[in-house]
Formats: sequence, C-alpha cells, structure tokens
Amino acid sequence: MVPNVSDPSSIGTVAQDGTAHLAGIAQWWRDAAIYQVYLRSFADGDGDGIGDLRGVRDRLDYLADLGIDAIWLTPWYPSPMADAGYDIADYRDIDPVFGSLADADALIAEAHQRGIRIIIDVVPNHCSDRHPWFQAALAAAPRSPERSRFWFRPGRGPGGDLPPNNWVSHFGGPAWTRVTEPDGRPGQWYLHLFAPQQPDFNWANAQVREEFLSVLRFWLDRGVDGVRIDSAAILVKDPFLADVEHELPPQNVHAPAQQSPDTEPLHPYTDRDGIHEIYREWRRVADSYPGGRVLIGEIWLPDPRRFALYLRPNEMHSAFNFEFLRCAWDAVALRRTIDDTLAAHAPVGAPASWVLSNHDVTRHVTRYGRADTTFDFAERHHGDPLDLELGTRRARAAALLTLALPGSVYVYQGEELGLWEVEDLPDAVRQDPMWHRTGGADPGRDGCRVPLPWSGTSAPFGFSPAGAAARPWLPQPATWSDYTVEAQSEDPTSMLELYRAALRLRRDQPALRSEREPLRWIAAEPGVLAFRRGDEFACVINLSDAPVELPENDSVLLSSDPLHGELLAPDTAVWLRLRGR
Ligand code: NOJ
Repeated sequence: MVPNVSDPSSIGTVAQDGTAHLAGIAQWWRDAAIYQVYLRSFADGDGDGIGDLRGVRDRLDYLADLGIDAIWLTPWYPSPMADAGYDIADYRDIDPVFGSLADADALIAEAHQRGIRIIIDVVPNHCSDRHPWFQAALAAAPRSPERSRFWFRPGRGPGGDLPPNNWVSHFGGPAWTRVTEPDGRPGQWYLHLFAPQQPDFNWANAQVREEFLSVLRFWLDRGVDGVRIDSAAILVKDPFLADVEHELPPQNVHAPAQQSPDTEPLHPYTDRDGIHEIYREWRRVADSYPGGRVLIGEIWLPDPRRFALYLRPNEMHSAFNFEFLRCAWDAVALRRTIDDTLAAHAPVGAPASWVLSNHDVTRHVTRYGRADTTFDFAERHHGDPLDLELGTRRARAAALLTLALPGSVYVYQGEELGLWEVEDLPDAVRQDPMWHRTGGADPGRDGCRVPLPWSGTSAPFGFSPAGAAARPWLPQPATWSDYTVEAQSEDPTSMLELYRAALRLRRDQPALRSEREPLRWIAAEPGVLAFRRGDEFACVINLSDAPVELPENDSVLLSSDPLHGELLAPDTAVWLRLRGR
C-alpha cells in the first residue's frame, strides 16, 4: 500500500489477521512499538555536536529497518535549554539548534512515507522563564492578569522572606523563587516544581487552557500523530497551596500515598481530581482529527487504579507504565506488576504499555547489573558494584519479555544497542539541573543521554558528520566502538540484531499484536515466567539461578542467548512456537 503523506490514516500496511493493529486504522497505537528519539543525542546533521532534525531525517531508514511504528521526539521548541528543552520559550516553533519548522514538516512527511508516525512532546505544566507570558508577568504588578497565568504569591515570615509553602522542587531546593519587582524591591515568589527557569502555569486560568488547545491544534494541523504529555499528573494545584504534609524527598516525581480511586486526593499538586477535565478537552481536540491522533501521558503514580483513571475512553489513549520500569528483575515482582497493570487497564478498555528505559532513568543494562535492580529517583545506586555482562544478559531477556506482552511498547534510543549508563562523565561536562541543583548529590540524568554511536572506531562514532568542528555535547566512552550500529549490524549475537529480529517477529506474529490473544500464564518452576499468547506462541523467561527445561514446543522462534539443548540458562528468555491445538 502506498501511503498518502498528507493523510496519516493511510500510513502502513494492512495485516492479514484483520485485528486492531492495522497500521492504517485509527487504533494503531494500541499495540505500536514506539521508539524514543532523545533529539540532542540521536544524530547530529550539522556538525555542532548536538543532535537535530536533519540527523533524524538522515536515519529514518535505520528506524524503518528496526521495525518500529512511531517515533516520540523529545522537545524541539525554542528553549534556553535550562532543562534540555523541557523549558519552552515558544510552543509553535523549532529551536535553531534542532532545525526549523520546514525541517519538522519534512521529517513528518518523510517518516509518514516510511510508515512511521510522529509523536511530539508537549510540556503543559511549565514553560521557560524566557516565555513571553512569563516575561510579561515579571514586568506586571502583583495580582495582575499577567501574573495570574502563573503561581505568584507573597512570601511568608517577616518581610515575606520565606517561600509561600514548603514544596520542594523535583530538582532539589525550594519550589519557589523570589522575584525583584519592577520598582527594584524584593517582591512576590513564583512556583516552579522543577528548575527556577521553569515557572509552573496556573491551570485554573482559562487563557492557559485555551492556549494549550491552540498549541495542540497547531501541531495536529501540521500532521503529527500524537503528543506525549510531560509531567501530566501535576498540572492542577490546590488553590490554597497547602504545605505538603510529609516533606517529599527531592526528585520524587511520584508523590501521593495510596488512596482510594473514589476519594479526592490529599496531595496538593499530584493527581488532583480536577485534572481529568483538562484531558477530556484535549481528547475532544485529538478526536476531531482523522487517523488516530493520540495523547500519551507521562504519569508517575504508584496506584494502578488512579493511573487508569487517566485512560478512560474520553481521556488519554495511553500512558507510560513506570511501575514496570521500576520493578526489580524478579519473577514474583514482575508477574505481580504485569498482572496489576493488565487488571487496571482492562476496566477502562485501554491497552497497557511497557517501558524499560527513557531519558530520565538509569539505563536498564546498568540497573539489571546491580544487586538492587529496581529504579527510584531517590536512590539511583550510582557507583554501586556493577556486572555489565549480567546486566546485558538480563536486558536481552527483558527485551523478549517486553516485546511479547500485550499492548504498546517503548524502545529508548540506544537500548537496542545495549548501551549502559555512562556513570563516569567528568563533572565539568554534566548539564542536568538535577545534578547542579543537588550540588552533585544526585548524579542526574546525563549518563543515559550520551550521544549514540553509529559507526567508526573512534568518537564521535558517526554521531556528527565527518570533519565536524564540534565534539558531541557529552563524551562517548571509547569502548562504544564495539557498540556502534555499524559494528552490530549483521552480527547475529548483537543486541541490535536481537531487537531487529524480535520487532520483526512481533509484527509478523498475529498473536503478539492481537487483543484477542490475551496473556495466559503457564505453570512454571519458581523463578520462571512463562506465558502464552494464543495457542501457538509462548514466551519463557528464566529469572532463577539454575537452568530450566523448556516447555514442550514445536520450534524456537528466538532466544535472547544461545540455548543448551532444551535447557534455558539463567537470565535468558525464549520465544517458542507451540504445537497448535
Ligand atoms: C519529565 C521529563 O521527562 C524530564 O526530562 C523533565 O526534566 C521534566 N519532566 C520536567 O519537564
């Protein structure tokens, strides 16, 4: 089928089984494989050491060949880059470091020609302090309409010298900064749940709501297939700005205690019930476009029932499953997380999503190579003893687990190359405000953002064009010479070829993409996860420390590491074709 570039609903090919994953119908997102492009670090087209849209366009064939359905691009807007682009100064343009609107249009069209959809990042909780609205607020008086689009308040204590409440920024330090009023006197404070350069919008303000509906339309009109909604659960604040009862650890993005889905949450800014109205409005906009335009939420909530409320049929289409990402490499814990996920999604009719890594968390090759394999912002285990070989073996098995689960799946750039967290970056090159604002106590997120190695035997490993004057914005480890796309291509033992084979099989196995074939657990020994999709496909993962026998099968479709006869080694996964019944 030849796609019609201007109509995203015609993207892709029609599969034989006629199920909801048909790329050409509006439900494409229910079982899509979505590749996260962290724009600054994917590929540098113009030689300034920073990834850009030209670089992505040049690598679209790589992505098509990998076998993904969509790309999620991290923010591309004009930004002073106080938080790597999550501080947006203009929601309707492209930062020159990344390219131009013309490049964005070209990327959308060229991706669509290859059957790849484009999801962009929208950041509604906060903007940049350089955004014209915030500049106008600074120039205006207290209680002015300009200030009411943000959270400006007088300070507490003598002279208003103390912040209005005890909220803590996710990047460390107070969530409030005091401004100097136009007359030169110390004045009000403004709220920023992240860096001071990221003032929080006041979502009780009608102009803020209208503005974001207009921003959504601006990009949907240009042909994007969906938006990833940044910090999606924290837009609505308690109007009284009550103190947080128990001081949160800095960087703890998921805050509230467990609560009943039926009660008004107690937390003053996370997951307040009023937030759902916002996404219902957004959904009406998305649904007014053809071709299945999607809303995907970044929602860190520990309670799967609260999480699922965002996925009701008139709200978001999907959200990142961070509880799966946070989970230990442990059969009992993983099975419980998978079951809880599926149970929470079923009543709202939303597909589950499966995520192992992204640009905010320690890469999973590194997580899985440590004694504690969980992820927590408050406890990153930076510098703890690490067995990279073990982490890599588990990451390979985790890829087969994740790609066999029902729902959509995310691949964070570089995980298909088996990249690890670069933990020994020199302090001088670190850019993450998390690192800076905690005085280095938190290593921050630079280690998972190191530019990708594409080819060659020395840095920049093809990340920048030959002869580029600038070096990559973060230095790449010399040992990545063995991890380039070039070095791994056609090596059947490489992580890249494992991902290619698994994504190809996932596409071709109707049972893996059909919601008519739910996950059914198969009885297995302790420490082993085994499940079927349909009558003919099974996935078995050995998380125990002894080899186990494979269930009776017709043939092995794919294994994460070589099998020893009918034995599955520890930390290995296999996809099997079962004898049809
Ligand atoms: C979540 C994003 O993924 C992260 O990178 C960013 O720092 C915060 N939201 C603030 O926008």
